[in-house]
Amino acid sequence: MDRSTDVLVIGSGIAGLTFALKLAPRARVLLVTKKERADSSTNYARGGIASVLGDDDRFELHIQDTLVAGAGLCHPRAVEVLVTEGPARVYELIEWGAQFDRDPGAQLSLGREGGHSRRRIAHAGDHTGHEIETALLAAVEAEPNIEVLEDHLALDLLVTPDPAGRPVCTGALVLDHRVGETSVVRARFTMLASGGCGQVYRHTTNPDIATGDGIAMAYRAGARIANMEFIQFHPTALFPTEDPAFLMTEALRGEGAELRTLDGRAFMPEYHPLGSLAPRDVVARAIDHEIKERGETHVILDVSRIAGEKLESHFPAAVEACRDRGFEPAEGIPVVPAAHYVCGGVLTDSMGHTSLAGLYATGEVACSGVHGANRLASNSLLEAVVFADRAARLVSYRLQTDAAYVAPPLRRELPKPGPEDPGLPGIAARRAELRGLMWDLVGIVRSDERLERAEADVARLAAAEAVRWLSTRWTADGAELRNLLQVAELIVRCARLRRESRGLHYTLDHPHRDNERFLRDTVISRAGGLPW
Ligand code: SIN
Repeated sequence: MDRSTDVLVIGSGIAGLTFALKLAPRARVLLVTKKERADSSTNYARGGIASVLGDDDRFELHIQDTLVAGAGLCHPRAVEVLVTEGPARVYELIEWGAQFDRDPGAQLSLGREGGHSRRRIAHAGDHTGHEIETALLAAVEAEPNIEVLEDHLALDLLVTPDPAGRPVCTGALVLDHRVGETSVVRARFTMLASGGCGQVYRHTTNPDIATGDGIAMAYRAGARIANMEFIQFHPTALFPTEDPAFLMTEALRGEGAELRTLDGRAFMPEYHPLGSLAPRDVVARAIDHEIKERGETHVILDVSRIAGEKLESHFPAAVEACRDRGFEPAEGIPVVPAAHYVCGGVLTDSMGHTSLAGLYATGEVACSGVHGANRLASNSLLEAVVFADRAARLVSYRLQTDAAYVAPPLRRELPKPGPEDPGLPGIAARRAELRGLMWDLVGIVRSDERLERAEADVARLAAAEAVRWLSTRWTADGAELRNLLQVAELIVRCARLRRESRGLHYTLDHPHRDNERFLRDTVISRAGGLPW
């Protein structure tokens, strides 16, 4: 069934829900989400939300910490917005029902994580994302103006020329994958809040839904994409990794946990003066180096400095995860790095607007300029709420002021039911192959030769998958693989363009920073060629 609405939101994590809640008093909001509404990366966020909330903290300090982590590529204005508007957004989450831990005096209990010069992480144990997601979903439930469609996967954005011939996003083509039915959702404004793309790597802390759908769709629709080479690998995923890998929150290191080799050497002070609390890119590379050098599979997170009671009360999810797997955390937690967050994405301005009229983006899908070449821990939930709020303010204004643009009827050929199985290798096998090659060739340490091989391998898989996409019935699995292949291509392309090492992008062939040539974003868009 085709639909039309004022505002279409794609994704049901913190960014999409916040944006929908802000607009609901003024507009009809249709929110599509590809699985159940609570299936989002937000639910997996452990550490918390960073903001200037403590008496000893100042905006300048949070700004400075964010800029330092970003290795020269943060957009200073965007960072200023993030930091100065942050506290109000955190208190708004509390008003919506999120309960963060408090100390005995009822003040917010603030945690510390790598790269932060002050305690500024508001958290709910080590399951903060789940707490926020639950509160926001309850608030959405109470809003009659928000309709949520579960099991609806956006396949592509609709782009139509406006009366002056400029491309405008006018909604999306959506697949109800329970019944295999494709329909059109027309919208005056479309918000991409569909999260990241960790599933493009073999080992990731991201859930299986994190397949880069929004970035891939925006690219195919002609929007600008930036900085896809900056993939953050979280240093401490529980080993052996599962899918998704369980995240041992950085807050453990903030409270004194230390990384050691299997024979007990505390190796991080050899790599950085901040030791185990060094920036994430440094820690992940150090672990990668130790593991390869010593021929071992993992390192140990030693939590013995966190006294028993505190470990249990502050980190219940971490403790439970260890016990569920048959060991006590006090014995040492086996960890390895895993893909965690994409700092690049759909390029936006500081109001969440993309380069395509009618299309907005916020949260992990977006590149708002706040993370630069490396994201500071716990700045991502903050980015989502701050920029969702700003985008909602802009859209709300435009709903009242812009002439209602009525898109011309879409001439569309929906796919004819094709054969279910044209004898191609299985989608799951191709997804696994892609994830393996991205891990091996485009991981923590890169090189020209590895990136060249990755480009050829991704192109070969994409060409073969295009045949499936164009000749068979569309499925959610097929659509996700199409998007994963698209984002893999974008990551490799951006990585090949950046012939230096900076922040999260480290390549053996260009191991130093080159400010003369590369103190800038890597911005790409679709030029020529038909998308599939
Ligand atoms: C963590 O808890 O270590 C993750 C927090 C983040 O990625 O910002």
